[in-house]
Order: sequence, then C-alpha cells, then structure tokens
Amino acid sequence: MDTIATSATADTTVSNDDFLATVAEKSNGAALRGNYEKADEQYVVAQDWDAYTEEEHELWRKLYQRQMELLPGRACDEFIAALHKMDASGGIPKFERTSEELFAATGWRIVAVPGLIPELTFFEHLANRRFPITVWLRKPEEFNYIVEPDVFHDYFGHVPLLFNPVFADYMQLYGKGGLKAMKLGGLDYLARLYWYTVEFGLIKTDKGLRIYGAGILSSGGEVEYCLKPGTPSRHIHLEIERCLQTLYKIDSFQETYFVIDNFQQLFDGTAPDFTPYYERLKQLDALPANTLLPGEVELLP
Ligand code: PHE
Ligand code: FE
Repeated sequence: MDTIATSATADTTVSNDDFLATVAEKSNGAALRGNYEKADEQYVVAQDWDAYTEEEHELWRKLYQRQMELLPGRACDEFIAALHKMDASGGIPKFERTSEELFAATGWRIVAVPGLIPELTFFEHLANRRFPITVWLRKPEEFNYIVEPDVFHDYFGHVPLLFNPVFADYMQLYGKGGLKAMKLGGLDYLARLYWYTVEFGLIKTDKGLRIYGAGILSSGGEVEYCLKPGTPSRHIHLEIERCLQTLYKIDSFQETYFVIDNFQQLFDGTAPDFTPYYERLKQLDALPANTLLPGEVELLP
C-alpha cells in the first residue's frame, strides 16, 4: 500500500471530496483509479470478491506463478514460508480468510480500500494494526509494470511479512510514527524510510542477501536486478538518519538498497524519538539516490 500526499493536518479526518480534489489537482485532472463512492470515512470498502472475473483470476495466477519462479534463493525465508501458508496461488484470494489467519498470528487485520488513500488514513490504519489492500487488479497490459499499487502488489508483496511478529510490530510503530511526523513536518523524511525498508528492503542472512521489500517482491524485473552483483546500484547497511536523508527513484530500479541484519534491528533502530532527527535533517540537503558516503561499504561488490 502506498499513499498520496494531501494537505491534511494530523487532527482532522480528510473528507472524500478534499482527498479527491487533491488527487485531481496533483494528477493534472486525471481521476484516481478505483471507486471511492462507497468508501466509509476510513476509506474502507467491501472487497466484493464475487465481482472479480475469471480473466482476472487467471491474470492473478500468472502473476503469482511468475513471482514464484523468481523468489527461491532471493526472497527471505520468512516471506516464502508465510506466502505458502496463505495459499493464494489459485486466484484472487478472499481477504476475509487471510485476515482471520493474520489476526490469529499477529493481531493484524486486512481491510479493503478502493486504491490510494490519504496519508493520515493510511497511518491510522497501520497504527491500529490494519493493513489496507486495494481491491482492483491491474490490466493484462500492465503485467510487468504498474504505476499505482493494485491488489497483487498489496496482498502478495505486503501481507506475508505481517505474519512475522517483529515486522508486524515495526509496521504498527511506523503508523504511529507517521501520525507524529505529520505534526512535526517530518513526513518527507519518514516516507523515505518506508520506501527503503517496507518497499525495497534487503536483509542479510547466512546464505547471502535476501529481499523483504514488497515493492521488489511483487515486481518482475527488480527481484533479479537488486541482487545481481556488478550493477551500478548500491547495497549498504541501513543507518536510520542516513536513510531518512536519501532521495529515491519512483520510475526506475532503485539506485540504493539498504540492508538490515534482522527485523529486530529494524524495530530497535526506529524505536527512538525521531524529533531530533527531523530537526537535524531540516538543516541538511537531501542525498541523491546513488550516494556512497566515505566509509560506507558496498555489500554486493
Ligand atoms: N520512533 C519514531 C518517532 O518517534 C517513529 C517510528 C517508528 C518511525 C518506527 C518509523 C518506524 O518518530
Ligand atoms: Fe506498497
């Protein structure tokens, strides 16, 4: 799941009309994909599973199969094990079933949303251990590349790690951190952390680097690219403030991948109060996406 920036403040719920107006403005009048008419004030809708067509289930199966061929030896074990248990290879899954299993495992639930949602709403869901998943599936011509997150990215990419207790706690903490960052003017910085961990994170294992970021795990090309030695991209150990300072690419493969040692390190590193980090960062220029600072080690030469 990703969000669209709005001018909302942290203490008001964004009205549907405000949000849609902001989106229209940001996208030069183009409408957001997805039907927002039936969304409640938290942007939650019914999944309406019966409305998916057989063609959509078939497309899901193809996306799923393609990823499964790429993931062994590349995705982290926690992701693969949870994905198998989720048993969603046969077609677009019913969120309700996975949500029950997830709740039993880590106290998280899945909620269905029409598509991109305001940041405030997104953070409120995470802070309450609810993960929002877009209901619609991409078109066949978007098999390899999609701009907005769809149900395949959201479900396949994000849900498996929510079965991991430590990662699940990190995601909730991130939601709370987002609400706080909105008040502190820290959102641009905090968004980079989400990008470089939840979406594009790598993890060190005794078998080598593995992927845990959903943006990579649901994509065709980047799964191979991000672990290939000799590319121009960086693979460096995650330092929180350094990551908060680093710009990212939204329209190409990442130029830097931040590597964690384990999920506990991620949780512990992000637990401190970020207020002084934001204060310091506001005095500094952002770092380009391909930066390698003196002393930083490339972990995949
Ligand atoms: N600890 C951070 C703060 O005080 C919040 C946070 C937690 C951010 C987890 C990211 C991940 O702002
Ligand atoms: Fe996402």
